[in-house]
Amino acid sequence: MSKTIKWEYSPAPEGTDHIKLKKQYELFIDGKFVAPNSGNYFKTINPSNEKMIAKVAEADKTDVDKAVKSAKNAYEKVWSKMPAKERGKYIFRIARLLQERAREFSVIETMDGGKPIRESRDVDVPLAAAHFFYHAGWADKLEYAFPGRKANPLGVVGQIIPWNFPLLMAAWKLAPALATGNTVVLKPAETTPLTAMKLAEIIQEADLPPGVVNIVTGAGKTGQAIVNHANIKKIAFTGSTDVGKYIMKAVAGSGKKYTLELGGKAANIIFEDAAIDQAVEGIIDAIFFNQGHVCCAGSRLYVQEGISDEVISKLRNRMETLIVGDPLDKNTDIGAINSKMQLKKIESYVKMGTKEGGSIFQSSCSLPNKGFWHAPTIFTDVSQSNRIVQEEIFGPVLAIQTFRTVDEVIAKANNSPYGLSGGVWTDKGSKIFKVTKDIRAGVIWANTFNKFDPASPFGGYKESGVGSEGGIEGLSGYVDLG
Ligand code: NAI
Ligand code: MG
Repeated sequence: MSKTIKWEYSPAPEGTDHIKLKKQYELFIDGKFVAPNSGNYFKTINPSNEKMIAKVAEADKTDVDKAVKSAKNAYEKVWSKMPAKERGKYIFRIARLLQERAREFSVIETMDGGKPIRESRDVDVPLAAAHFFYHAGWADKLEYAFPGRKANPLGVVGQIIPWNFPLLMAAWKLAPALATGNTVVLKPAETTPLTAMKLAEIIQEADLPPGVVNIVTGAGKTGQAIVNHANIKKIAFTGSTDVGKYIMKAVAGSGKKYTLELGGKAANIIFEDAAIDQAVEGIIDAIFFNQGHVCCAGSRLYVQEGISDEVISKLRNRMETLIVGDPLDKNTDIGAINSKMQLKKIESYVKMGTKEGGSIFQSSCSLPNKGFWHAPTIFTDVSQSNRIVQEEIFGPVLAIQTFRTVDEVIAKANNSPYGLSGGVWTDKGSKIFKVTKDIRAGVIWANTFNKFDPASPFGGYKESGVGSEGGIEGLSGYVDLG
């Protein structure tokens, strides 16, 4: 077994003196920040130290109705009448302002959600800006996206997003909706509303006509008020499969369109002929990136039998070098779990995994006393029927199995209610083509993982969702083609 080398790093925390946060956030309706009808506010905390960051308005039915009215009015009077190239300029302006404030947004994203600053700085914020840039370009070129067809906007769209990529999901939702001429009521998740509210400030600064984007905060009830509102033409949702099913039932027969991006249980497959060190790095990234709070996380690993000892030993060694701790520290690899509820869920799955007979290995890192933390964890000696192999954990927990043949691993990978993503590591192009063709998943990476681009569509099969986001496919979810 190779020896693990551990380096000691001095703390390198990112500064927080440059960020501007209010003590209390209101609802963003009709271009203005307004108090909620109920007068109620909830707290958003920093999950790495459990300290309150700000109070946030709780929108009820009346507030949602106000937001929808404002969006409808903006749609009918302004946004649908505006030349497409003018729409594009507004979206471009949002992208530019976001880029200018990238550092502030990264720090706030990390404080509110717990993810390492390195990720919010290098992934979340730049990708969010890239989505606005990309879609700004489409606004006046829809006739090329849909040749020979007329792309008509839908009207007011309702968008509900989760806490794992708060700003990025807001960008995934807003940019294509605006580019295609729709107006929006967006609801961020209740544990991570702050970057959406900062985005509202940018939207105001970009002079977007009032009502084109409305942002309402709150939990499930606020989401339900959006889903059930009669004047909303489409629901775009990212989150749990349970809520996705609720939305499908709620909109059935209403004529509302919907796109749902739900859970996943991605198979990451490593063949004997793979470049093993690179693959180990990729496996680590696939499951421990963002504390495993990723719908496309590579949470099932299938290793070909001949290399399983080597791969598992290398994985353990690499896990020991991962730095778990202060999300604002630039050296941190693994930050805080987003909420107490999510931590409990992860812990209960880890207990279950041991009970089901799995062998557990956790890195020996020490976890901070305050806040919500979970050590990187792997399970071996598990089988296909175990719940930790079948169900989405949404945390830094990897279930490892071995396989002998290509057909066997394809069958195992497909034995899942989900079909969002997957990974394959091999030196042989032919194997890549065979595996990617036969696995029922929306996105499959080969010799890499977690690569995103606004131009490539992302979406799942089976219980992973309906429709795609990104690229022309993503645009098509926001138009009626004439
Ligand atoms: P969730 O699905 O409850 O939350 C996602 C969003 O939906 C939030 O904005 C929430 O306020 C809203 N919401 C909740 N109930 C609603 C309802 N009845 N109608 C309309 N909107 C509603 O997810 P939650 O409870 O935060 O996480 C539970 C599990 O879901 C996680 O452990 C994970 O497995 C999965 N999940 C998957 C995500 C993905 O990206 N696919 C993202 C977040 C969670
Ligand atoms: Mg928070």
